[in-house]
This record gives sequence, structure tokens and C-alpha cells, in this order.
Amino acid sequence: MKKEFPKGFLWGGATAANQFEGGWKEGGKGISVSDCARSHLDVDVQDYKKQNEVTTKDIEEALKTDDEVYYPKRHGSNFYYHYKEDIALLGEMGFKVFRLSIAWSRIFPNGDDLQPNEEGLRFYDAVFDECAKYHIEPLVTISHYEPPINLLLNYDGWYSREVIDMFVRYVKVIVDRYQHKVKYWLTFNEVDSMIRHPYTTGALIEDRFPGKNFTEVIFQAMHHQFVASALATKIIHESIPDAKVGCMLTKLTYYPYTCKPKDVLKAQQDMRSTYCYSDTQVFGEYPAYLLAKFKNEGLNIKMTEEDLRVMKEYPVDFVSFSYYSSSCVAADDQGLKKTAANTNIAIKNPYIPSSDWGWQIDPIGLRISLVDLYDRYRKPLFIVENGLGAVDELVNGTVDDQYRIDYFEAHFKEMYNAIVEDGVDLMGYTSWGCIDLVSESTKQMSKRYGFIYVDADDLGQGSYRRYKKKSFNWYKHIIETNGRCL
Ligand code: BG6
Repeated sequence: MKKEFPKGFLWGGATAANQFEGGWKEGGKGISVSDCARSHLDVDVQDYKKQNEVTTKDIEEALKTDDEVYYPKRHGSNFYYHYKEDIALLGEMGFKVFRLSIAWSRIFPNGDDLQPNEEGLRFYDAVFDECAKYHIEPLVTISHYEPPINLLLNYDGWYSREVIDMFVRYVKVIVDRYQHKVKYWLTFNEVDSMIRHPYTTGALIEDRFPGKNFTEVIFQAMHHQFVASALATKIIHESIPDAKVGCMLTKLTYYPYTCKPKDVLKAQQDMRSTYCYSDTQVFGEYPAYLLAKFKNEGLNIKMTEEDLRVMKEYPVDFVSFSYYSSSCVAADDQGLKKTAANTNIAIKNPYIPSSDWGWQIDPIGLRISLVDLYDRYRKPLFIVENGLGAVDELVNGTVDDQYRIDYFEAHFKEMYNAIVEDGVDLMGYTSWGCIDLVSESTKQMSKRYGFIYVDADDLGQGSYRRYKKKSFNWYKHIIETNGRCL
């Protein structure tokens, strides 16, 4: 393949404060939900339910501890202390864009504060200035699993309507402050993920809602996020004329395990259960099938006329998504071999390989995802997460990660096909965890995604020094040639 990607294609990488930044108590930062998420190294890495189980008691325990117990996300990869060196490395690779999130609790330590934390604001000023030095556009996620823990303890998290106002205050402050530095924004990371991990996405714990239908609680909280997202889009557009705001979806691409009509129907239903969230944010209204679900399951979601008006008036400009793997589903999956697929469990697909963590590797699935999303929305798309979580071995100051290069190469070729043959409008690509960081699902550092190795283990032992892997120069070359070398 000798043709290049579209001019101005945004090549880069992605991170999130909760897994990367560290400095959990530095510079006036408050405690976030992720700072209280303990790792479960004793639990099977494919058992997401157990990995993500959190009770109020766990939070009370977490809040009693300082650094005598290791909570991986409190430290991430210590970007807080390494940001200059890290951004210089991204600059050396030629990044056009760097996706990062702002930790809400660094700006409003408790979420309900009336005044922002100036030191927190200064930190991101410094980060964005550093990006500017290397002509890297920041792509900012406003909320990536980082609600301040106070919102869970004293407000019932996103179930509480009041949290919308607090979020709006936070958005106004960051948009006002960074209006000349940030043009690309995402409102909520994987807005759909509240169903799978309500704690990190919605600051919700089931034991805090005795006697209530927890599914109703989750959808009510999600409704509040949809309203908050629309209000954030309004604020951004009013302050930054050329800004682009995206929604962010977990692209769980489902295949029917067989051509039995029941399996095909199951795949369609599962696919819609993911699309219903992006449908809401792109079309500005709830799709009929989600409203039908509310009705059929007796979920009483409170929404005002004003909520619905705001959602309709401020839809997103583009659709961003994460894609790691496709999943096979069947109407009756008993007895079929299962495997992990990004906070999900799927039937094992016999035709494709799997990663060290069981996530199935399917580059063509990325092309299928791009086509499906573009046909559905006709809005520009942005792949803001993709990559291979693998066990890397540091030998003589580097990692020979040819397996990662192979993974990227296969995915990039399918992106190219989607753009050129299928007519998809793809704005850019940011690989997940471009510098190694703590995994979301298993909270392990040893599940590595980066072009840059961070010398730290699952217990936070190590120098945190950065090392270039073999994929570093490979990706640099891809960016330099805009994909011509593929
Ligand atoms: C996405 C999340 O679902 O997947 C990231 O937005 C996460 O936060 C990524 O890190 C990869 O998952 P994991 O569990 O391998 O870290």
C-alpha cells in the first residue's frame, strides 16, 4: 500500500488522568473515585465483575489509607512529575494530537466547591503549553472515570441532579481557562460504560440505593450525563468558535456466532444496546428502542422538557470511540467457550487470535465498526482508543514489541481501506496508553500498551524511568510519512 492518509490526519496517542497522571494528593487535588479503586491481583484478569466490584466498605477502607496500601491509580505513571519529558517524547514521535483527561478533582477537589483550585489549573496550563511547543493539539476528555469521591459520599453520584450544575461549573472554568489552548473536546469517556462499571463512570455503588431498582438508578444517572454533555457542548461552542466536541463510545462490535436467525437477532439487539447512547448524543434525542426499554422494564427516568430541549439543541460534532476487539454472541451461549472483550465477556471466535488478556484481535472488525458508525451517523469519526495490552520485557533498555507493530499495522491498513474504499470520514487516531499506564479493568501496570515503557510494576515498585520500545520509531515513521510506508 503506497497511498497516504488524508492530509491533516490527526495521528497521536491517548491517556487518562485516572490511570496516568498520579500526584493524587499534590497541588491541592481532591480524591477521585479511581483513587479509591483497589487492584485485585488475586482475581482472574478475565473476571471483570469481580475486578470491578466496589462496596461502600471498600471506599471507607480506601479513605483511611495513605500510601501504605498500594492503590495503582493514585500513582498511574507519575505523569504529574514527568510531563515535560513525556510530551517531549511524544513530540519526537511527531504526534499531531495527544488525548488526555483533566482530573475533575484537581480543579474542584470535592466537586461541590464554589471556587476552583488555581494550582490544578496551572498544572494543565503547563501541560498544554508543553504540547504547543511541539505543535501537538490536545484532545481533552472532560470526564474519564474521575468524579470526586465526595460526590459519591454526599450526593449519590450522577444519580443526583445537582451534579449536573457542579459539572457545568467545572466545564465553564476549564473552557474559559483553556479556550486558546484546546480545540478538541470529548465530554464523557465511554458514556455507555456506566452499565458495566457504574462506580467509575457514575460514582454509583449499589449498596447505597437500598430498595431501589439499580438499573433505574444507572439510567437516571446516564440521563443526567446526557444533559450535562449537551450543556458542555453549548459552553464550548459559545466560547471557542472553531471547537469540535465529540461523544465517546465503547465500540463493542458484535458478530452472530452462527447464521441462525436467533443469533443474528441477538447480535443486532446487543449492537443497539451500545448504539442507543451514541444515537442519543448524535441525534439529540432518545431512540425509540431505548424509550421502549424504559417502558417495558418499568424504568421511571425523570426528564424535564428543558432537558430534552437542551439535548436536542446541542448534539455532538463528531463521534469518537474505542475499539479493541469484536465479540461473538448467540441466543443460547451455554457450553460455548468464552473470553474477555473490554469489560465484557464474549464467545470465543475460532477464526481470530487473542491477546495475553484474552481480548480477540480483529483488524477487519475495526473497518466494519468504522463503516457501521459512519453509515449510521454521517459525522466525522475519531478512533480515540485502540491498541494491544501485552506483557513486555525490557531488555538492554528497550522492548522488542514486534507483536505490537504487527497489531497496529493490520489495524492501520483497515482504517485506510475504510477511508479510501468505504468513504469513511476519519479525523484521526490516538492509540491507547501511548506511554504505559495502569490498566482500567485489572489495574495492572504489567498490561502495557505503550510505545514508551515505564519502569514500574503492579505494586508501584520501580524507577518510573521511560524507555523507547521498538514500536516508538516505527510509529514515528508512520506519522512522518502519513501512513505512506504501510
Ligand atoms: C477503555 C477505557 O475501555 O479501555 C480505558 O476508556 C481503558 O480507560 C482501556 O484503559 C483499555 O482497557 P484496560 O482494561 O486494558 O485498561
